Amino acid sequence: MKDSSYLKVIAIDGPAGSGKSTVARIVADRMNMIYLDTGAMYRAVTYYLIRIGFFESKSSDICSILNSLKLEFNDSKILLNGKDISEEIRSPRIDAEVSDIAKRKEVRAFLTEMQRKIAKRGNVVIEGRDIGTVVIPEAPLKVFLTASVKERARRRYLQLRSKGIETDIKKIEKEIRKRDEIDSTRKLAPLVKPRNAVEIDTTNLSVEEVVNMIIEMGKERFEKT
Ligand code: DC
Repeated sequence: MKDSSYLKVIAIDGPAGSGKSTVARIVADRMNMIYLDTGAMYRAVTYYLIRIGFFESKSSDICSILNSLKLEFNDSKILLNGKDISEEIRSPRIDAEVSDIAKRKEVRAFLTEMQRKIAKRGNVVIEGRDIGTVVIPEAPLKVFLTASVKERARRRYLQLRSKGIETDIKKIEKEIRKRDEIDSTRKLAPLVKPRNAVEIDTTNLSVEEVVNMIIEMGKERFEKT
């Protein structure tokens, strides 16, 4: 049965560097919808765990740690216990650790529930790895974005360089392959194309082209529902 509370939701999934965040943000803006970056939520949890020394302490009580954490969104900023950490969560250290944190059952359950609550309010473009498969399989429009590993590494390299972070493109490519491997082979909510999702290979497409394709499909689907 169709869950009517998810009528106006666009779910966008795909691997790192497939263009999800850029595209989802613009689509949300042009369609006057809320943008929800679920990767930022996994990054925020990772940031918090690093900061409180979770890895060194080998503490296993991750649930109480999660419950002491308050995540909020304000425009395109993510706040952790009131502090804006939007920049900090994009560091290479977080890139390296986040996939392992995202494998954990408690972390996924905690964030999935939070994401559903936000999406229930409707009018949301929500992007991640498991949105169309696990979080909101009922979304009226599900999109799966892909791109070649080389192109994804090139995009990430340019993004880091624009922030003054110098790194090596080959190293990024290796990390992307490793992250793909962890994200797509994990037991819980692996990165796979959702059923009934529209797949778009963005390797040779401009951001504008991808955005327009999604907006067209969105309008068509929302008219029908
Ligand atoms: O999209 P991103 O690179 O910011 O995502 C960071 C990590 O979080 C990525 O390794 C996979 C994980 N993730 C996830 O498991 N499920 C989501 N819905 C979003 C991200």
